[in-house]
Amino acid sequence: MRTRDTLFVQDGRLKIGGCDAGELARRYGTPLYVMDEAYIRRMCRSFTEAFKQESLAGGVIFASKAFSCLAMYHIVAGEGLGADLGSGGELYTAHKAGFPMEKVFFHGSNKTPAELRMALDFGVGHIVVDSLSELQLLCAICAEMNKRAHILLRMNPGIEAETHAYIRTASTDSKFGMAFDGEGMEALRLAIREESVVLDGLHCHIGSQIFDMEAFLRATEIMSDMFVRVRETFGLSLGILDLGGGFGIRYVDGDCPTEPSECVRVIGAHLRKVFAARGLSTPALILEPGRSIVGEAGVTLYTVGVVKDIPGVRRYVSIDGGMGDNPRYALYKARYETVVVDRADEKPAGPITLAGKCCESGDLIGVDMPLQEARRGDVVAVFSTGAYNYSMASNYNRNPRPAVVLVRGGESAVMVERESFDDLCARDRIPEWLK
Ligand code: LLP
Repeated sequence: MRTRDTLFVQDGRLKIGGCDAGELARRYGTPLYVMDEAYIRRMCRSFTEAFKQESLAGGVIFASKAFSCLAMYHIVAGEGLGADLGSGGELYTAHKAGFPMEKVFFHGSNKTPAELRMALDFGVGHIVVDSLSELQLLCAICAEMNKRAHILLRMNPGIEAETHAYIRTASTDSKFGMAFDGEGMEALRLAIREESVVLDGLHCHIGSQIFDMEAFLRATEIMSDMFVRVRETFGLSLGILDLGGGFGIRYVDGDCPTEPSECVRVIGAHLRKVFAARGLSTPALILEPGRSIVGEAGVTLYTVGVVKDIPGVRRYVSIDGGMGDNPRYALYKARYETVVVDRADEKPAGPITLAGKCCESGDLIGVDMPLQEARRGDVVAVFSTGAYNYSMASNYNRNPRPAVVLVRGGESAVMVERESFDDLCARDRIPEWLK
């Protein structure tokens, strides 16, 4: 684990946000997602202050697909960030939280007509149009609603960023965005001609959990070439470059993330340089971090049940959660670190495989992880689970989704209630003919 002032071990006990992890588990039950507010705010500030320091126009928007709930939008709004919203559900939640809609960039590779109408109704600042087909749909909807939408076009820079193939988004073969030559050009032509949309800039997102800053710099160059082509072809100087998110975080030893402030500084400097070299003024820069804001803020607490040794093979430590609350091993062979929360200072007893309780062999949190001797009833913590865990949780095997608790300076409060068995059946209906 990477310790910090709000996450450390004291007398063998894990403390997060001034709270004792074991006590949180007893008070709220397990599995439990715990989110460290101070860390979230620190990451937000690391991004926003770097923008100020570097005098960069534009700003930071939180990619809320990483973690979305009403309280999170309060934190994000309080820190002055905008939001990247990627569905009707995220739009609804942010709107309900009173999030400033003019700071929203509405994303998605296949937005439905209903979602586009909702975005226009709520008055989102920008819609990031993913395809020509979507642009045509949006123009028709704008005309019907008598609205004008400010848009960015999502271009595909054709970069193979070094990350898991499932979270790489800008290779040529991708469902996201447009190739500049071809669909992109057609969309530009239409966007410039159409009265119902105002084209403010271009967007790209090269993938997620990326450590290599070079990939972002390459994307900046490729996108700046597109700005040049737009000016040459249409005589238009675009004002916004949205470079997406994707900054990596630390899950295990060997993961070496760059501080958000440093990411902004490096990208900002390169942006200035490459645009100046092309005779263009520097556009406003938008960054869309998700994981790097909430990932390391989250810790999941589980209670150990079965411990099973298969001599010469492996030791399974089974917990009361699993792929339902954290599908990332199943999806990406993601790696994590774990400790027994009340004996975190003891030496690990040897590698174990942390297994979930779903009826699925691939339901694991991690394989061959060091862990202290774990027994039935122990509470274990899994680190760096703040991003893409709660937001990707499911009810597989009809397991209720865990609660999310926010901790701050020794206080704790529920952000999302634990689902009950009644919740699981609340929307079930029995067709008359079965009765
Ligand atoms: N902007 C756009 C357009 C995106 O699609 C994403 C993430 C982000 C920003 C934020 O990326 P981040 O800073 O969080 O890396 N479920 C996967 C990650 C999927 C990322 C989807 N898009 C995982 O658990 O690793």
